[in-house]
Amino acid sequence: MKLFLDTANLDEIRQINAWGVLDGVTTNPSLAAKEGREFSEVIAEICAEVDGDVSAEVVATDTEGMLAEADELRGIADNVVIKVPLIPAGLAACRRLADTGARTNVTLCFSPAQAILAAKAGATYVSPFLGRMDDISNDGMALLTEICEVFRVQGYATEVLAASLRSPQHVGQAALAGADVATLPTSVFNQMVKHPLTDIGLERFLADWQAYLQARG
Ligand code: E4P
Repeated sequence: MKLFLDTANLDEIRQINAWGVLDGVTTNPSLAAKEGREFSEVIAEICAEVDGDVSAEVVATDTEGMLAEADELRGIADNVVIKVPLIPAGLAACRRLADTGARTNVTLCFSPAQAILAAKAGATYVSPFLGRMDDISNDGMALLTEICEVFRVQGYATEVLAASLRSPQHVGQAALAGADVATLPTSVFNQMVKHPLTDIGLERFLADWQAYLQARG
């Protein structure tokens, strides 16, 4: 399973990229707006920083508008993936982009039926939002599991990108469910790496080593 970082913040991207575990980045209009900078500049900097796919989302809600934005975004870098919402206009844009060889991420997916439409429209990725399903008392992990199974049975080429993940447990379960990609915020990457026994163990190793050095004189 590939790991993407869900942010538009360059400092966060540099921090996690330095671990050598990053396969790509996803952004959305809310994350981009938080940066308060020119969107195309932010995307260009992220694309230069990361050796992998970078999803940049359109904000038009009609197909022609989406395609015009996609044209500009694709001009920024080769690793830009055009993110479109899972609405009829987004599916039509996805199909047209796929037919020209562009890579796409169909986002805001909340049902297996929607995911099937994204696959049929030639999406590179489809993004089911787990956390937001949990937020409304539905089972986000059950949704992901079902989509992964449908895609396996049907042999769809579209990759399942588990999005809106909120915890390290989500990441482990997404991997078990067979997600191709998980995108997580920086906070979840930081939670994933931490374990109290790692810190206690390291502290003890270093203390024992110091004691040995002192005893040796
Ligand atoms: C993915 O592409 C989305 O940007 C993201 O995962 C949404 O997560 P949220 O529901 O925590 O905002």
